[in-house]
Amino acid sequence: MKITVIQGPNLNMLGTREKNIYGGMKLEQIHQQMRDVASQNGFEIDFFQSNLEGEIVDKIQECLGDSDGIIINPAAYTHTSIAIRDALSAINLPTIEVHISNIYRREEFRQKSMIASVVAGQISGFGPFTYHLAMVGMMQILNEIKSLRDQQAQQKIPH
Ligand code: DQA
Repeated sequence: MKITVIQGPNLNMLGTREKNIYGGMKLEQIHQQMRDVASQNGFEIDFFQSNLEGEIVDKIQECLGDSDGIIINPAAYTHTSIAIRDALSAINLPTIEVHISNIYRREEFRQKSMIASVVAGQISGFGPFTYHLAMVGMMQILNEIKSLRDQQAQQKIPH
């Protein structure tokens, strides 16, 4: 099964950007850790980063039929983008929303997420480790889906 990781604007600057808030790990280092966890557990994984809202919407749409679950940090678009929310809602794949910082202890404008109500769950505030927690959550969801599918397939086999 395949997990798609979508990273929003300015996350390509992790490691240099406001290290006191986002930590010192580069995006590629975070992705390498996720890649390792995915391969250890038998999952395919794909990564995408864009600073453009429309490209993120296109990527979400492409996940339909291509991916089984999405881990997304929409970054600043979290707080503004009805287009990203609508795209997630349209494809209706299991999705986990990730934030490196705890958005609820920051400025008021960051305390609202446009996408929280269309995702399976949100993880916020554990630094770069937040992505690892999202991997654990996503693998749990996909394993449950897989065992349900296996059960249904078993029931269809005539004895
Ligand atoms: C962020 C939080 C957002 O408010 C911010 O715009 C980001 C990163 C986080 O991961 O903590 O760019 O999504």
